[in-house]
Amino acid sequence: MTRRAVLAGSGALAIGGGLAAVLGAGGKTPVGASTTAGRRVLKAGTTSAPLIDEAFQIPVWGYNGSVPGPALRVGQGEAFEVLLENALDEETTIHWHGVRVPNAMDGVPHLTQPPVEPGERFRYAFTPEDAGTFWYHPHQRSFEQVGRGLYGPLIIEEADPPQVDRDLVWMLDDWRLDDQGQISGGFGSRHDAMMAGRIGNTITINGKPSAPLIARPNERIRLRLVNAANARIFGLDFGDLDPMVVALDGQPVKPHRLSAPLLLGPAMRADLIVDFDYPAGTRHSLRDVFYDGLEYELTTFECQGKEVRERRLPDPAPLPPNPLAEPELATAERHRIIFGGGMMGMMGRTASGSDARNEQRTGSGMMMERMGGSGMMSGGMMGWTVNGVSASGHVHDPIISAARGTTLLLDMTNETAWWHPIHLHGHSFRVLSRNGQPTRYQEWQDTVLMAPEERVEIAFVADNPGDWMFHCHILEHQAAGMMATIRVN
Ligand code: C2O
Ligand code: CU
Repeated sequence: MTRRAVLAGSGALAIGGGLAAVLGAGGKTPVGASTTAGRRVLKAGTTSAPLIDEAFQIPVWGYNGSVPGPALRVGQGEAFEVLLENALDEETTIHWHGVRVPNAMDGVPHLTQPPVEPGERFRYAFTPEDAGTFWYHPHQRSFEQVGRGLYGPLIIEEADPPQVDRDLVWMLDDWRLDDQGQISGGFGSRHDAMMAGRIGNTITINGKPSAPLIARPNERIRLRLVNAANARIFGLDFGDLDPMVVALDGQPVKPHRLSAPLLLGPAMRADLIVDFDYPAGTRHSLRDVFYDGLEYELTTFECQGKEVRERRLPDPAPLPPNPLAEPELATAERHRIIFGGGMMGMMGRTASGSDARNEQRTGSGMMMERMGGSGMMSGGMMGWTVNGVSASGHVHDPIISAARGTTLLLDMTNETAWWHPIHLHGHSFRVLSRNGQPTRYQEWQDTVLMAPEERVEIAFVADNPGDWMFHCHILEHQAAGMMATIRVN
């Protein structure tokens, strides 16, 4: 697997010095307060959070005063209702990422609902069909609203969940803090937008600095990982812990062990079953190895205390399948989708791929020089495109208009020199192939991470009527045009 150093110009991850010196402090607790009954209120507003140290509150935006917002848990097939109150100074909405909601509940301003004005409320209600790990976040100016902390987990519970000793949610985030420990401004900067997005310098798990997770011998933990970062991609190396992956983007997948680091692009999720069949006193490292030369220890797992059971549990059974319609590939309607633009966009197409990627590793200064010097600045700076169009706002002419029930097969090519997590609203899709090779698990996803120049085929039954956003989930890329709409009639 290739991983590219795309941190150019964004500041390297501050681990081991400065702010990061405190990255070992603090505790890791379950996300927010969990509510399972009654009507829930989510109030979006300003608050503060101990992102780098329990004793140091940093101004952020959050739901109900916390980052992440409350962990919402609801049973599969049970009615769910949330009242959003907007206590921000700007318009907002809530999008239920990955959940197959009715279009009017999808939270896309102007496309599916009017934006919620400051001081106003909006009632969201739907009955989730799929169990799994999902999350919620605003869809208005999300590059800043999500970037300042507006997000939370939405756990839709199986009727008969797998037996585990603990069920934990870890929302991973990446913040860009200045040397005062405050959130840096410059959200949506052109520079970030044309490159890897707003990569930060401080990683949090559930809004806090990482702390060791203490487990008992032979304990089984279900670990639900959510990447809530604007732009950072995680490549998680669990070392000897060797977890089983049981779901991706909320959807069950054939349980399997990892043969390479687990890649989680922005918005992506993974459910892991971790069995601690190690004696007390052992320590296991979880490393993020995505960016070449910038690997770091995200956290550690420590085995302590008396064993929970005599021996480890047998490997987990597959999770019960969700009621997703199976794509009919024989009759599928095929569409080519080309993602383009960004810095080096033209280079990426005209130079050989490896040149473009090497260029990317050398840093932004060098790139700028090359771009300017070679007279390609205008091509490189024109924004991100989907099929040649750089979209603005949330309302566009659909790139595809499908009759309800059609199987759509999207043959997507990333013609840029950058990674993109591509997200479709209102549906989950099967990832059929990468660069012509069938994927091993034909996994269901709602966000598929595309490497530079990669070609990926996905397919789904367009069975949820409405206009659905289809965009890159690097939020700066989305804002700079990498979005489109797919209409299901
Ligand atoms: Cu997670 Cu269009 O969003
Ligand atoms: Cu992108």
